[in-house]
Amino acid sequence: MRISGKDLSVRLKAEMAERVAQLKEKYGREPHLAVILVGEDPGSVSYVTGKAKASEVVGIRNTTIRRPDTISEKELLDLVRELNADESVDGILVQLPLPRHIDENKVIEAISLEKDVDGFHPLNVAALWQKRPCTVACTPKGIMKLLQEAGEEIAGKRAVVVGRSNIVGLPVAKLLLDANATVTIAHSRTKDLGEVTRQADILVVAVGHPHTITADMVKPGAVVIDVGVNRNPDTGKLCGDVDTEEVEAVARCITPVPGGVGPMTITCLMENTIDAFERKQR
Ligand code: GUN
Repeated sequence: MRISGKDLSVRLKAEMAERVAQLKEKYGREPHLAVILVGEDPGSVSYVTGKAKASEVVGIRNTTIRRPDTISEKELLDLVRELNADESVDGILVQLPLPRHIDENKVIEAISLEKDVDGFHPLNVAALWQKRPCTVACTPKGIMKLLQEAGEEIAGKRAVVVGRSNIVGLPVAKLLLDANATVTIAHSRTKDLGEVTRQADILVVAVGHPHTITADMVKPGAVVIDVGVNRNPDTGKLCGDVDTEEVEAVARCITPVPGGVGPMTITCLMENTIDAFERKQR
């Protein structure tokens, strides 16, 4: 069975559109998301376009600011500070990765905590790891919604997360732990990856390499979440980290690429933006 992130996000966005309409009625304006895109990396351009489209569906005001990849770190920091000070802006997102001459951490830290709809600010990350109220990063949040959609009872299960990035691997491992799974984080230096992944009732794969997980590495009946977005070197088509067709025959359910985690990331960004707007009204 496939878990459609696309279908789930269509439903969630329809609910959010109603929520936004009510908020607009109550407060006289809609939530406002500012997105900064530096350079013209095709992947980043496509993500940012997706974010603008979703904003339109939900009724969020979207301002996408494009800058050339020659922008200096100082100019980018000044732009972020300008948006911090802009009362009309509720959420700020700087699309990653940034050009190499810019310190990503500096830029993320410059975003005001209240407007950090990506959940990447170090204080948001710290709050997550201390189980305090925080903005949860969009991809991990979307993955938890997909597991719920799959009807997966998490407590007591064995979860294996392959990948240890700040954006996906680490935060999703923490969310699974908070949901009372027994969590293992595997990575590029893990010996005998298959031996580890075969233990997983819930397998989350976020490494960014096609064919990382084959059918023999999956426990029969497992739920598999494929976070990878890659180009298949042979066909040029979009593919995940998991060999979907062969794993589908073993797993209870699996998320497809495209149409799985990707749309959920964008949908959770919409939710984080609406939440940021609402917090500001209190
Ligand atoms: N690049 C890849 N994923 C993300 C994300 O979730 N947020 C931002 N800002 N950049 C990304």
